[in-house]
Amino acid sequence: MRETAYAKLNLALHVRGREPDGYHRLETLFAFCEEGDGLSVDAADGLTLRVKGPFAAELGSGADNLVLSAARAMRHTCSVEAGAALLLDKRLPIASGIGGGSADAAAALRLLRRFWRLSITDAELHAIAAGLGADVPACVRSETVWGEGRGDRLSAAPRDLQSAAVLLVNPRVALPTPAVFRGWDGVDRGPLARGSARDALLAGRNDLEPPAIVLAPAVAEVLDSLGACPGAIAARMSGSGATCFALFDGEAARDVAAEQVSASHPDWWMLRTRLR
Ligand code: C5P
Repeated sequence: MRETAYAKLNLALHVRGREPDGYHRLETLFAFCEEGDGLSVDAADGLTLRVKGPFAAELGSGADNLVLSAARAMRHTCSVEAGAALLLDKRLPIASGIGGGSADAAAALRLLRRFWRLSITDAELHAIAAGLGADVPACVRSETVWGEGRGDRLSAAPRDLQSAAVLLVNPRVALPTPAVFRGWDGVDRGPLARGSARDALLAGRNDLEPPAIVLAPAVAEVLDSLGACPGAIAARMSGSGATCFALFDGEAARDVAAEQVSASHPDWWMLRTRLR
């Protein structure tokens, strides 16, 4: 049995305030790509995880891996006795603002619900997901949704950007999320535009871009490169970075942009995909 851990994008991410517990109050529009990490499962007595793929070396498969935390939480909540041998194909860069561990954990929850044939409610699943990380509930849904609170209060969003052509670019710099949030200047720049997804994207911003650029100046270079591509509707950083994305009017324009960017920066990681 298999699942995809769809790459997560924040089409816009407005930081509205800092809570006493150190977390930040957000307004965001989550969207998901057709591509992502791969997760598969086989029967086993205990819980095990192996990691393969282009970014496996940078990730541990140890007990702190969020996939195993997800499996343990689900086993505990649903009193499961069976085990699972999980195999993660790590294709997305680590600590890069596109879900990564959160999407992997969410894929594990979806996969194990099927594999162990659990009759768990959506509310129970949401509770397990929220306990694993602020982005995990959105990643469980893996469809375009508005996020509020820590990013875990979700509501349905318009699907007008479904199938839009996207190019993801990462300058191969890992950015730790807490450090980027700590660099936010504390200025509330206002709410998201709640029209279509396209409106929210065009009128929106990512308030974590400035602190991310302080930590990783290459992010500014990626944004400039993407923004200069013909046919780019918008170019923005996702989450706490360093991955940036651009949406295009069509796949042809996206593919020309991919050629252009990779010619000038052959070392940057890149993914051509579409929104799901
Ligand atoms: O919830 P998660 O473990 O994914 O969050 C990682 C880190 O990102 C948190 O420890 C916190 O520093 C930061 N964060 C935040 N505000 C949010 C979400 C995440 O400050 N709404």
